[in-house]
Amino acid sequence: MKRAIALLFLLFIFTGCKAEQSPEKPSLVVGFSQSGTESSWRKHYTDSVINELEKNDYQVLYRNGFLNHERQLQDVRTFIAYKVDLILITPLQEDGWDAVLEEARLAEIPVITVDRHITAKDSSLLTSHVGSSFKAEGNRAGLFVSNSFLNSDLKEVKILELMGSSQTSATTLRSEGFKETLNQPAVLKEDGTTDYKPKMTVTTQLNGNFMRNQGKEVLKEYIQNHDLNEINVLFSHSDEMTLGALEAISETDIRPGKDLLIVTIDGQQNALDKLATGQINCIVESKAEVGWYVANTVTRYFRDQKSGRILPHEIYVPGTVFTQHNLASVPSRNY
Ligand code: AHR
Repeated sequence: MKRAIALLFLLFIFTGCKAEQSPEKPSLVVGFSQSGTESSWRKHYTDSVINELEKNDYQVLYRNGFLNHERQLQDVRTFIAYKVDLILITPLQEDGWDAVLEEARLAEIPVITVDRHITAKDSSLLTSHVGSSFKAEGNRAGLFVSNSFLNSDLKEVKILELMGSSQTSATTLRSEGFKETLNQPAVLKEDGTTDYKPKMTVTTQLNGNFMRNQGKEVLKEYIQNHDLNEINVLFSHSDEMTLGALEAISETDIRPGKDLLIVTIDGQQNALDKLATGQINCIVESKAEVGWYVANTVTRYFRDQKSGRILPHEIYVPGTVFTQHNLASVPSRNY
């Protein structure tokens, strides 16, 4: 210790200046309100956001809403009381946020939604949104389905849609996007002809709430009351529900991936494994590894705030489509 003081003294004498003091800059505090933990996709999403923010020296206050809207509102109010510097929300539902967003505005705390959207009466209550394009995901699924039946012998393709939770943009936009491309006419080829495209009909919509057990339950009930042989396609809004549905189908003599085309969204490893064995035909990727995009947006916000530059309204996270054809090039994942 004495030696260190002597060294500092010598430094002071020889350089003729004070040793620079660098007071620790306090970290900015980000409150992250997550809707729940209904899937391993969601768990990975949460970890990815928290890890990347912490890597970038933000202090993260995390709250899990446990699939309860009221609880999530309370979590955001806790962040406001704590006077965090910015709030991230993955809402369980789109509506019912206006009052709490007003409170955040009064406290001058910016709010950015991640993954799912909030429908606010006044859109200026939200600073930005970071997430996949749910509509494009639905479009990609619809295209895969319609391309799979070009020139088939069928007059009509019957589709069972396994929907995620109601009142979320993930569900409404995926469904909307799916129907949009499904019903597009077959393209005109260079030789002036078009492929034959059968009529595509979503005959049934079931709600599995993005959860495996509910996906299994609703499909089991459907199988008990209807003939699944009449369905040509199962389009599911999430891997967890698809895995549940596959469990229900395994109790029948229908061969998933052969007798029934299976199209799912997300890209968890356990779904990729089923794609490899042919029980799933197509996975439309929705990225869970989003931490970089979120942390980058938060940093841009703080950097540009003083210069008055405004973040884009929507910042899209890219995704791709996995089929048997490109499976070999898909990197494995730990969720
Ligand atoms: O909001 C995105 C969806 O929510 C994911 O596709 C699904 O797995 C999750 O539960």
